[in-house]
Amino acid sequence: MSAPRRVLVIDHTAREGGAELALLRIVERLPPAVEVDAALFEEGGFADRLRAVGARVLVLPLDSGVNTASRATLATPLALLRSAARMATYVPRLSRAIRASGTELVVANSLKSAVFVAFAAPLAGRRWVWHLHDRLATDYLPGPLRAAMRMIAVVGPRRIVANSYATLSTLPRAARSKTSVAYPGLDESSLDAETRPGRHERPARRTVGIIGRISPTKGQHEFLHAAAIVGRAHPDVRFCIVGAPLFGEDDYAAQSVALAAELGIADRVEFTGWLADPRAAMRGMTVVVHASPVPEPFGQVVVEAMAAGIPVVATDAGGVREILAPDGVHEHLGELVPAGDEVAIAAGIARILADPDAARQRAEVARAAVRDRFTIDATVDAVLRSWTRALRR
Ligand code: GLC
Repeated sequence: MSAPRRVLVIDHTAREGGAELALLRIVERLPPAVEVDAALFEEGGFADRLRAVGARVLVLPLDSGVNTASRATLATPLALLRSAARMATYVPRLSRAIRASGTELVVANSLKSAVFVAFAAPLAGRRWVWHLHDRLATDYLPGPLRAAMRMIAVVGPRRIVANSYATLSTLPRAARSKTSVAYPGLDESSLDAETRPGRHERPARRTVGIIGRISPTKGQHEFLHAAAIVGRAHPDVRFCIVGAPLFGEDDYAAQSVALAAELGIADRVEFTGWLADPRAAMRGMTVVVHASPVPEPFGQVVVEAMAAGIPVVATDAGGVREILAPDGVHEHLGELVPAGDEVAIAAGIARILADPDAARQRAEVARAAVRDRFTIDATVDAVLRSWTRALRR
C-alpha cells in the first residue's frame, strides 16, 4: 500500500494558530508525489501561506456566526443543537467539494472542521484522518462538546494523528488503538543554529518574553504577575509579550494591558502585537516563558525557543513535559513549574537570571535534543504512515 497521491486538508480557520502553522510545515515538506488541496471555511493569512507552499486552496465560507463561535458559547446542548441546524446546510456543500476535488483522503486539522468532516467525508464516500491538536478534556472543552468530540473520535476517522501523548491520553480507549503521535516538528530555518546570528552574544538588555496568541489559555496574566515579582529584584530586566488575540480574546488582551499598569510595570512591558516573524523577536530574549495555566496539548513555542538555544520556563502540564522532560530520569531541559502558579514562574525566571552560564549550558543540551526529536521530516514520516494506513482495506 502506498501513500495517497491526493489529499484534501480541511480547517475551519484561516488564521495562523498553532495547529495551522504545524500543518503548513507538513504541507511544505511532503514529497512531490503527494498533492495537497486545502478547504478552509474563511479567507485569511493561513490560506495565503498554504498557497505560497504550493497547495490549492478552496474557500467555502461558513456562516461567520458558526465559524467564530467559541468553545464556551457551545456549552449547552441547546446551543450545540442550534448550531447543528445551521451546520446541516454546510455539510452537503463540503461533501460536494470533497468529491469534486478528486481527493483520495480527507484530513481534518481542527475540532470544528472534524465535526463537519465526520458527516461530509462519508457522504462523499471518502475516508478521513483527524489531526488532533487539542486535548478532549473538560479543562479545555465544555462537557457536552467534549463528549461529542470523543464520540466522533471513535466512530469517525480511520486514523487519528495526535500532537502529543498528553493529547492522545484524552481520547476514549476505543479510539486510541487507531491513534499515533506525531510531534509537530521544526524545519531547518528553526533548527539550524548557524542561521541564528550572534547566538552566543548576550542581548544588550535582558528580556523575558512570552510568545503566542493572547488568550486566557496561554497565561499572559500569569506571566505579568510573575514579571512584577521578577521586576522587583531585577530592575534592569524588561518584559515582552509577542502576539495578539486570534479567536475573540480581545477583552483578555485589553485586560492584559491594564494589568501591566496596575502592577506598576507598564513602562517595562512591551506588547508587540502580532508579528509576521515572531522568531526574530524570540532571538532577542534572555528567557522564554510558556505560562499556560491549563494543560497545553503540545507547545510548539517551547520547542522553538529550545531550538534557538534560549532558556525556557514552562508550566508543567499536558505535552510540555514530553518536550522538557522526555524521560523523567535525566535533568529537565528547562525550568518546569506548576501550572497557574505565578510565584513559581517568577522563581523559575529568577533561577535562570541568577546563573546565566548554567542556563546557557542547559539550553545547548536542549537545542541538541530538539534537533534529534522534533524535525519536520520525522513528523512527515509519521503523518504519511497514518495516511497510508487509513487507506488500507
Ligand atoms: C494547538 C495546540 C498547541 C500545539 C499546536 C500544534 O495550537 O494548542 O499546544 O503546539 O496545536 O500541534
